[in-house]
Amino acid sequence: MVLHLLTVLFALLVTSHAARSRGPDVYTLCKRGFSYTWDDGPWTMHEEIVETFDTQGAKTSFYINGNNWSCIYDEENVQTLRTTFENGHQIASHTYLQWSHASLTELNDTQIDYEIKRLDEALIKILGIRPRFFRPPYGNFNQHIIDYIRGKHNKTIIMWSNDSGDATGGSARDSWNFYTRFAREEPDYTGLTLSHEVSDAGVEAMRNGTVQALVEAGVELLTTADCLGLEPYDYVGDYGERDETWNCDAEWTPSVSSR
Ligand SMILES: *[C@@H]1O[C@H](CO)[C@@H](O)[C@H](O)[C@H]1NC(C)=O
Ligand SMILES: *[C@@H]1O[C@H](CO)[C@@H](O)[C@H](O)[C@H]1NC(C)=O
Ligand SMILES: *[C@@H]1O[C@H](CO)[C@@H](O)[C@H](O)[C@H]1NC(C)=O
Ligand SMILES: *[C@@H]1O[C@H](CO)[C@@H](O)[C@H](O)[C@H]1NC(C)=O
Ligand SMILES: *[C@@H]1O[C@H](CO)[C@@H](O)[C@H](O)[C@H]1NC(C)=O
Ligand SMILES: [Zn+2]
Repeated sequence: MVLHLLTVLFALLVTSHAARSRGPDVYTLCKRGFSYTWDDGPWTMHEEIVETFDTQGAKTSFYINGNNWSCIYDEENVQTLRTTFENGHQIASHTYLQWSHASLTELNDTQIDYEIKRLDEALIKILGIRPRFFRPPYGNFNQHIIDYIRGKHNKTIIMWSNDSGDATGGSARDSWNFYTRFAREEPDYTGLTLSHEVSDAGVEAMRNGTVQALVEAGVELLTTADCLGLEPYDYVGDYGERDETWNCDAEWTPSVSSR
């Protein structure tokens, strides 16, 4: 009996230690500051978003795709993403494709590997980084995806605490009210918010001054990594040089060592 109890206690100790050292399964809230994030790019408004945050001395994070609205290897995307990265904003993974499926929960592990590795490879080539943060399309995941993405790909799932609604029919006015409410009523809230760089509503609200309103209210706009106190990338190296593998059309065979 005593032995049994000791075993149980020991098991509990080991489990809670493991849970502590690997961190939570999914992050939805910052630890400090505020993370204003953008999904589904890179797209035509990307550069303007970066300029707006730069002008306010603020940081933002992009959860990008490899080939959704545009191919990440397009020269314009390559140059813009390098500026984003050099200016201290964060790049995170939101899968390679996205449109081709309803959610990761409907894919098998081989298909999940493709979604993660094909984008990881592009980011290693273009920016010399491999992102640690991953946001699943439509925010859909289950325990298997959490464990698989962590174990196989060393990535942590990042969701959000508040959704601006810009991808679900919300107007520019709605996004404006959403962000300025933080500024007016909850400037100390450590929010992690969702906007979309392909959404006219989300970008229109930004043009109308959401970033400035937050900064003026004293909200500290940080990258997701900084607001969580975590490393954004688990590989950092040099930029690559364009070759014939830098395209989204050809059949893909991995050409850099990835996991
Ligand atoms: C990008 O993905 C979204 C799904 O989030 C899809 O609705 C949209 O049609 C895709 N865009 C393109 C151009 O394929
Ligand atoms: C995953 O699904 C794809 C597409 O249906 C299929 O070709 C592949 O064999 C599957 N892989 C595994 C490991 O089930
Ligand atoms: C733009 O900002 C003004 C206040 O400066 C606000 O009254 C208006 O509703 C906002 N419009 C949109 C579309 O965000
Ligand atoms: C953000 O989400 C939290 C938790 O749901 C909620 O209490 C808070 O009012 C929201 N803030 C804004 C400005 O939407
Ligand atoms: C996973 O990422 C973390 C944070 O960057 C890093 O410390 C760790 O070495 C990585 N693990 C593996 C197996 O690459
Ligand atoms: Zn998305």
